[in-house]
Amino acid sequence: MPLVCLTDFEAHAHKRLSKLTWDFIEGGADEDITRNDNTAAFKRIRLRPQYLRDVSEVDLRTTIQGEEISVPICVAPTAFHCFVWPDGEMSTARAAQAAGICYITSTYASCSLEDIVNTAPRGLRWFQLYVHPDRQLNKQLIQRVESLGFKALVITVDVPVLGNRRQDVRNQLDLVMHLTQTHLQSTKEKNSVPHLQMSPISTSLCWNDLAWLQSITRLPIILKGILTKEDAELAVKHNVHGIIVSNHGGRQLDEVPASIDALTEVVAAVKGKIEVYMDGGVRTGNDVLKALALGARCVFLGRPILWGLAYKGEHGVEEVLNILKREFHTSMALTGCRSVAEIKKDLIQFPRL
Ligand code: FNR
Ligand code: LAC
Repeated sequence: MPLVCLTDFEAHAHKRLSKLTWDFIEGGADEDITRNDNTAAFKRIRLRPQYLRDVSEVDLRTTIQGEEISVPICVAPTAFHCFVWPDGEMSTARAAQAAGICYITSTYASCSLEDIVNTAPRGLRWFQLYVHPDRQLNKQLIQRVESLGFKALVITVDVPVLGNRRQDVRNQLDLVMHLTQTHLQSTKEKNSVPHLQMSPISTSLCWNDLAWLQSITRLPIILKGILTKEDAELAVKHNVHGIIVSNHGGRQLDEVPASIDALTEVVAAVKGKIEVYMDGGVRTGNDVLKALALGARCVFLGRPILWGLAYKGEHGVEEVLNILKREFHTSMALTGCRSVAEIKKDLIQFPRL
């Protein structure tokens, strides 16, 4: 049976992956309320199509931070792709390059940053940074990332501590150990034994630290994990270049709003001053259309990329991206949108059900 939609890839990955890996990927925090709501919330939104427009040509292209992408669907940072496919992130990077979209590489990539860049040198890439408690280590890593041609720094703000993922606890998956090891390898600091004792992600990071980060990089800074208007306003005030509305796929604080529900509040607070993106629960072309109609510049995919990898490595990720791109094209044509600029709020039925 051919795999025709993203959830087909999910079912396939479930069969193929070990229980430990599957649980790690799929799991949310605590009771999975937010994890499940991320997809369910999209399904509560109804569309208002506009017919009799000439949709013989539909242009999917857009830009993020001034760089062109072929379609507003990009790759969210996820850790440890080698859990899922032998050459992990290298496959992901090639697929993203072939698709002409942006790939955000995680701090916890399981391939070296050099290998990822060399295998897909023309791909648009951003780097997701988990700020380490040791400032010097961050500085070295950022310098390396800059010299490797990453175009933006994505600071994940929703992991001051790891969420409580029950299934990982049951499976005795020691994530902190994995994080520590991978991070030290990726910063080539294997000899700095004292760091082994530290939590690999800073628990004390705060708004004031942004000025320090801005002083050690020339890259635009994007905050990932913002969910409220208060934080969105602070982000603008601190001169960041973008926000990814995200709840980490429901893996951090449970019982926060679905990303698509939080998007409107953040978009309103930002008042067009910086770009707003979103991730969490995007599984169909209609989902992408809804996110853009509600003000996202582009969406990012987490788990679906890993399902694609689990299916056929690079080619599996390409298939996932192609299917979603085709669906999005259909969604645009069926709602009368000939370019992403034409995707407006009037496509959404208010009041929402
Ligand atoms: C993640 N996510 C994540 N985020 C981040 O900033 N750094 C990371 O290293 C990871 N690692 C990670 C691993 C796995 C297995 C998953 C599923 C997620 C969160 C990710 O970037 C994104 O916010 C969500 O995955 C988006 O939700 P969907 O698309 O998975 O529903
Ligand atoms: C996760 C961390 C690594 O969600 O971001 O698993």
